[in-house]
Amino acid sequence: MQTSSWVPLFPEQASTFGSQVDALYVYLIVVSVVFSIPVVAAIFFFALRFREKEKYATPDEMHGSIMLETLWSIIPFVVSMTIFLGGAIVFFNQFRIPDDAMEVYVVGKQWMWKLQHETGQREINELHVPVGRKVKLTMTTEDVLHDFSVPAFRTKADVVPGRYTYLWFEATKPGKYDLFCAEYCGLNHSGMGGYVYVMEQRDFDNWLSGNVSGQTPVEQGKDLFENKLGCASCHAGGPQQRGAKLEGIYGHDIKLVGGQTVKADDAYIRNSIINPSAQIVEGFQPIMPTFKGQVTEEQLVSLVAYIKSLSGITGSTPASGSNTAVTNSSGTNTSGSGNTMTPRRANRGAANTEGSNPNSPGGRGAPTSSNR
Ligand code: CUA
Repeated sequence: MQTSSWVPLFPEQASTFGSQVDALYVYLIVVSVVFSIPVVAAIFFFALRFREKEKYATPDEMHGSIMLETLWSIIPFVVSMTIFLGGAIVFFNQFRIPDDAMEVYVVGKQWMWKLQHETGQREINELHVPVGRKVKLTMTTEDVLHDFSVPAFRTKADVVPGRYTYLWFEATKPGKYDLFCAEYCGLNHSGMGGYVYVMEQRDFDNWLSGNVSGQTPVEQGKDLFENKLGCASCHAGGPQQRGAKLEGIYGHDIKLVGGQTVKADDAYIRNSIINPSAQIVEGFQPIMPTFKGQVTEEQLVSLVAYIKSLSGITGSTPASGSNTAVTNSSGTNTSGSGNTMTPRRANRGAANTEGSNPNSPGGRGAPTSSNR
C-alpha cells in the first residue's frame, strides 16, 4: 500500500479523524523540537561562555527577573493547554458515538476478529464498509483483552472481557486498510489482523447482497429469546408475567430493588443475562437463572440487539424515532438498486401475543412452540 499522506512516515489518512490526529501529532513534534533545540544549544553555549576561567572565582550576584519568570511560566502553560485542548477535541470526536451510524458487531477471540453486520452478514478478519458513512462498532471479546486498531483511520479501542466498548469512524476514501490487534494477547497476537475494505456505496450494496446474510442479529436474538433459551416463558409480556418487562426499556432508567436506578443500556442487558441476581428490578423476585456459560458472546450481542429492538431501536435508527416500522438496511436508497436484503423489522408483535400463559412453561407445549 502506498503512503500518500503529506508526512511520508505516517500511514495513509482514510477517515475523518485522520487530519485531526495528524495535526495534533505534528503539533507535538513541533513543540518538542522547538523546545529541545534551544535547550541543547544553551547547554553548549553556557558551557563555553561560563566555563571556569579562574579558580574559586565569586560570581556576580543576581536578583532574578520578573520578566523571565513570567515568560517561563506563561509559555509552558499556553503550550500545555493547547495540547490538552487538541487532545480533548480529538477524544470527544472519537468517543462520542453518533446516533445515525450503521452498526457492526465485533467479537475478538484468540486470535481472530469475528464481525457481523446488522443485516446478518458475517466476516472474519475482514470488514467491508461503505465510504462516507458513519460506522459504529459494538465490541467485546470471548477471552482476553484485545484492541481493535485501524491505523489509516487513526482510531483504536480495547475490547474487554465482560463488557462492551464502542468505536466509530467514517471512511473518506475507498481502499484496503490494515486492521490490527494492538494489545498483546498471546502467542499469535501479531497475526491477529486483517483488512478493512472501504467501498463505494453501490459496491458495498452489491457486496452485501452477494453474501449470505442468514439471520440478522435481531432475528437471531429473537430466536434465542423465544425458542432456544426460553426467555419468553417469563418475559413474554402480559399481566401475569414473572420476568421484568422488556419492551420500551432501552435507554430508560430502571428502578431496582433497594431503591437504586440503573440505565438500561447494552451493558445492563448483558449483565442481566449473565448475572441476573446482581440487579433485580423493583417488584420482581430473584428467580431468574444465570445464563453464564450457556450463551456465547455473539449470542449475547444478538440478544442485546433483539431487546433493543423491543424499544424500537434498530441499529442506524436514531433512538428518538418512535418505533420506525421498517428501516432500510443500507440507509439512504435501495429502491431499485436490486439488492436482496430483507428490511429489518422492529420485532415486537410476537413476544407480546405470547404472554397469556406465562406461568406454565410446559403449558406452552411442544405443538405450539412454533407459534410465531
Ligand atoms: Cu488480540 Cu493481540
